[in-house]
Amino acid sequence: FKKLEDFDFNGKKVLVRVDLNVPVANGEVTDSTRIERLAPTMSYIIEQGGTPILLSHFGRPKGQVNKGMSLSVVVPAIQKAFGQPVEFVDTDWTDVSAAKEQIAKGAAGTIYVMENTRFHPGEEENDLELAKRMASLGDIYLNDAFSSAHRAHASTEALARKLPSGAGRAMEAELSALQAGLGNPKKPVVAIVGGAKVSTKLDLLENLLTKVEGLVIGGGMANTFLHAEGVDIGKSLCEKDLAETARRIYDKSSDENCAIILPVDGVVAWHFEANAPHRTYGLEAMDKEGMILDAGEKSIERIKGAIDEAKTVIWNGPLGAFELDPFGHATIEVARYVAERTKQGKLVSVAGGGDTVAALAKAGVVQDFTYVSTAGGAFLEWMEGKPLPGVEALKA
Ligand code: 3PG
Repeated sequence: FKKLEDFDFNGKKVLVRVDLNVPVANGEVTDSTRIERLAPTMSYIIEQGGTPILLSHFGRPKGQVNKGMSLSVVVPAIQKAFGQPVEFVDTDWTDVSAAKEQIAKGAAGTIYVMENTRFHPGEEENDLELAKRMASLGDIYLNDAFSSAHRAHASTEALARKLPSGAGRAMEAELSALQAGLGNPKKPVVAIVGGAKVSTKLDLLENLLTKVEGLVIGGGMANTFLHAEGVDIGKSLCEKDLAETARRIYDKSSDENCAIILPVDGVVAWHFEANAPHRTYGLEAMDKEGMILDAGEKSIERIKGAIDEAKTVIWNGPLGAFELDPFGHATIEVARYVAERTKQGKLVSVAGGGDTVAALAKAGVVQDFTYVSTAGGAFLEWMEGKPLPGVEALKA
């Protein structure tokens, strides 16, 4: 696909699909990481004499105008991040003539933020007519929203086919980091997969088995695997109906020469709450009334041992109930270990997913990883080996 250097932006209106689906509380953006990552694309377009027109969804308004989900809320954060004048363009996307006039009148260097693309049902339907209306606002289309690229929506898919199109800097950086993580990685690769449920990560596990040399399974989902192996996990979170699936994944891993690394001990508590009294148990003697809320020290040592062998680590999902202190201990310990080895030049480390990024932030190591993706669902689908419609459309 084309990159910024492949275009002449001078005097051009540039539609940039960005992901402004950022956390907001009390009318203010509380984490502007996704916005800050757009700075290189914004400054390039403006320096070259182009006018950026930002398109994004925000929340899930289900195809209806809902002022509670207006993108006007992000305008101050955009102004702050890019230091340029920003104008909000209100539209319900059924008729864009007023929007066109507003943009035509603007001063050079202005960044336009269009209203939530999901206010129109055509967005999620990947509707061609809506894509045509969007295309009529600009001359060039750039996608700089990897985190929305798993959606085949009008602003991510159909629109890319309507105008000369390419990838912005953030998209480019994301794709090359992911390529280093799984596409063409330095081997051996160890994947760390955590989180609460096996059911949401089945495709992920199946795909990773065929691609990586080591697969660390942690968090609540490890309990299902332990249960399938006959370990009594007491009252721990477990999807008992997936025991058979877990066994099948285990069997497949040996055919694929992928070593599955499961916890060998667990930090057990009797209440699911912060600072609940807790004790570490070995697997052979779990407490029947307790819940495993974190991996124990022996498990942490095992995971570190696997990381010592790896040249690439990819990570999605926490290893325990990291949102409740002190049950984030294993996640934080392992995150710091990966960060340390990355700094020493021994590892390429790529992580992504909302909870994972929050956990790495808590460990204070986001900047020490080779790459941390801001994407949730898109990162997961990429790890599952699925083609991402928003990326595919740029290649066409
Ligand atoms: C995200 O926040 O992961 C993306 O913006 C996608 O949002 P969605 O799941 O509502 O499509």
